This record gives sequence, C-alpha cells and structure tokens, in this order.
Amino acid sequence: MTVMWKIIHLDEVNSTNDYAKSIAEESPEGTVVIAKRQTAGKGRKGRSWASPQGGLWMSVILKPERTDPRLVFVGALAVVDTLADFGIRGWIKWPNDVWVEGKKIAGVLTEGKAEKFVVMGIGLNVNNEIPADLRETATSMRAILGKRLEFNEVTNRVLAHLGRWYKLFQEEPLNVIEAVKERTLLINREVTVIHSDGEISGTAVDILEDGSLLIDTGEVRVRVVYGDVSVRPG
Ligand code: ATP
Ligand code: BTN
Repeated sequence: MTVMWKIIHLDEVNSTNDYAKSIAEESPEGTVVIAKRQTAGKGRKGRSWASPQGGLWMSVILKPERTDPRLVFVGALAVVDTLADFGIRGWIKWPNDVWVEGKKIAGVLTEGKAEKFVVMGIGLNVNNEIPADLRETATSMRAILGKRLEFNEVTNRVLAHLGRWYKLFQEEPLNVIEAVKERTLLINREVTVIHSDGEISGTAVDILEDGSLLIDTGEVRVRVVYGDVSVRPG
C-alpha cells in the first residue's frame, strides 16, 4: 500500500525522532515530523547529530507488520535517489550513512517499539553550514553543487522516494537488498569492523539477505549484523 504523508512542521525541537516517538502510538502511519533546527539531534549509539537551520531533519512514523532492522536501508536508498535527482552521486555506507565524494552527507536512525511502530529519522545536509569540527568528514548538497537548493523540493523528493522504497520493501524485501548492494561503498573494499570486544579487518564481500555484511578476513568469513558495529573503510 502506498503511504500518505502528513507533515508536522516545527521550528525547533530537541530531536524529531524523540518527538515522533512521543506521538507515534496515536498517530497514523505516514505522519512526518520536520524541524528547522534540532537542539539535541542524535545519531546511533547516542552520538550527536549537528542540526543547524537549512538541513532536512525529519522523522517518519511507520507501522510495518513486523519490525525489521533492514528498514534502515529504505531511508538510505531514498536519500541516494534524491541526491541523484539533483545530479549528485551518493553511496550507502552500510548500514545507515550516505556519503558523497568521500564525506558523509546524510544519516538514518531507526528507533521504535516492537510490533507497534518504527520511527525513521533522516538527517540530510541540504543548505546548512557544516560545523567546523565536521568539515573534514561531512558535506552538504549546497557544498557539492555550489548553490542553495529549493528546500521543499528536496523534502518532497525524499518523501516520494521513501514511499516507493517502503512499498517495495513490504512486497519484495530482497529487491531492496539488491538495490543496496548496487549503491554501497563497501563491497570489495578493505574494512575494519569495530565492535564491543575488538576489531575485525578484511574485505567486505557481500550484503546478505538478512542485511548483514559479510567480511572475508583471509582465514574466515564473518557475518556482521548491523546495529552493533562501526565500519571504517580501510
Ligand atoms: P558508524 O560507522 O557507526 O555509522 P558514524 O561516525 O557514522 O559511525 P553515527 O552514529 O552513524 O556514527 O553518526 C554520528 C556521527 O556523525 C557523529 O559522531 C559525527 O561524527 C557525524 N555527524 C554529526 N552531525 C553530522 C552532520 N550534520 N552531517 C554529517 N555528519 C555528522
Ligand atoms: C547517524 O548517522 O547515526 C544517523 C543520524 C540521524 C539524524 C537524524 S536528523 C532527524 C532525526 N532526529 C534525530 O535526532 N536524528 C535523526
């Protein structure tokens, strides 16, 4: 089924994900929270997400039949397709980031309550300034194109692509995994996976049907489940 989006616009909020979670149970699927600024935007594992004015900080309430960690890919694919609409080539850095020209332009954070709702938070640097301490690692659509973009146009593109990928995900999840593989940065690259008890280095060889990343260390093949690791190319 195609989702109908209903957007709630806020000037400022701590985190659109937290706001969306607080209203999710009584809100219909397709409710979208967009804020001009976040005062406590967050990434995975409690890391902070810089969210000054001019960026797209949005959280979408979804009510899939089953909770599925692969849903994060739907957000990343929607961002990559939006970038393509504006002539920008983006890559998914498994599992939840989008990179352009070697820098991070977007991140996706899914949270939720099992079997009740999923909140998919998408942060995309559009026209916003990148804080000085992130300039080595982060970029924006404005920095890449050298001009400001029509913000609503970007928002509408993201939601249109998100609706399409979400529908496909519900009907044919393996097609979504295939699409991720085509747009991923890591396949055939040397990666180091950092997890709670140490590091594994090797070549990323595949993304499996369950969304995990397969690493070949030279001796063994290790399946890395997202959520519990950070991956650094090289
Ligand atoms: P991982 O490999 O685990 O995804 P990560 O460094 O990408 O590692 P995340 O938790 O996914 O970590 O994302 C949060 C990180 O993103 C922050 O620690 C910061 O380095 C970076 N970051 C914060 N705000 C922005 C932003 N607006 N644009 C790009 N990068 C940002
Ligand atoms: C990451 O790269 O770790 C994910 C970053 C997700 C940022 C978005 S911005 C909108 C939503 N609200 C948040 O607090 N985080 C997500």
